[in-house]
Amino acid sequence: EKGGWPSFMAKEITEQPEAIANTVRGRIVGGTADGDGAADAAGGARVEIPELTELGDDTLRNIDRIVIIACGTASYAGQIGAYAIEQWARVPVEVQLSHEFRYRDPVLDERTAVISVSQSGETMDTLMAVKYAKDRGALSVSVCNTQSATIPRESDAAVYTHAGPEVAVASTKAFTAQIAALYLIGLHLGRVRGTLSDADAAAAIRAFDALPSAMAEAVETHEQIAQLAHWMADTRSVLFLGRHVGYPAALEGALKLKEIAYIHAEGFAAGELKHGPIALIDHGQPVFVLVPSPRKAPVMHSKVVSNIQEIRARGARVIAIVEKGDTAVLPYADDVIRLPLTDALFEPLVQVVPLQWFALELSTAKGLDVDQPRNLAKSVTVE
Ligand code: F6R
Repeated sequence: EKGGWPSFMAKEITEQPEAIANTVRGRIVGGTADGDGAADAAGGARVEIPELTELGDDTLRNIDRIVIIACGTASYAGQIGAYAIEQWARVPVEVQLSHEFRYRDPVLDERTAVISVSQSGETMDTLMAVKYAKDRGALSVSVCNTQSATIPRESDAAVYTHAGPEVAVASTKAFTAQIAALYLIGLHLGRVRGTLSDADAAAAIRAFDALPSAMAEAVETHEQIAQLAHWMADTRSVLFLGRHVGYPAALEGALKLKEIAYIHAEGFAAGELKHGPIALIDHGQPVFVLVPSPRKAPVMHSKVVSNIQEIRARGARVIAIVEKGDTAVLPYADDVIRLPLTDALFEPLVQVVPLQWFALELSTAKGLDVDQPRNLAKSVTVE
């Protein structure tokens, strides 16, 4: 059942191209090229999620605020999704941890949409937050990987991720599928609300089309990452830096490492370095840096390259995750992991893959149980 892989997590990492394709399928419609529509974005393809269409376009136009609620990895998917939804649908989006949301007396009304994100659809804190929001008249949309779980049943609409069953405790394919689903929601809302330009819609649809093969290429970093993890087996602390959508991706890289390799790890927004965390950097401190595309995000790229120079000057061991062909970081990086080109917003979907492999390989190098980490359960059904 592990398909020849030593762990479910390894199998699930490799299943991501398919998980994304399955999540997108049937939700990009109307292109001229083929049934999937994605191949010819300029030919009139559009994102349409039937479950959102059923809510009525007026309901979607009426939304003036979105709150994404989730826990753990799902909350990082939510943070990444928030950038895209704001950009395409021009609605303010905030992301809150479910267990914090409920106890802060949040401001909610019928113009607020609450989007919950949950792989299992059973996380008690998220379920309680959804019920709370519903009681106060908010619209509730569930992004969930488990058909007919409690959270989607309690919601006004369910947008399923079709990642397939996720067995390993550490979430991988559900995470990237959650990002894809949130992006589709952003594109659907942007279209209905008239805030999404044709050019942006076409670019996003093309990016979705290219994503499965880009992710397959990211999966192939496995061997390189395994070697890196091998020499790092005694590492006691690892830092992760990112900007913009790379920031929550850095948080996710750190969480994976804590969960299955029991190593102290932290993710930071690269811009935050000089406000404190740079004091942690001393000789040999490993730091993964998610470097934005120099073509698609030149300003972010140059800022991250300066951050790399700053930490390198203080002795950090820099592991740079870059777009293929980006040579700007080469003089300052100890290791370079090259990934295929993609649109700026889509980068976390490929950048997170080597981080998932790294956690898995470090856990393996330490002789730990990758799929069943101590103290953790797949689904947290108590508060
Ligand atoms: C991380 C992980 C947890 C879950 C969190 C939410 O690898 O598995 O952080 O993401 O417990 O679970 P769901 O998505 O089922 O609500």
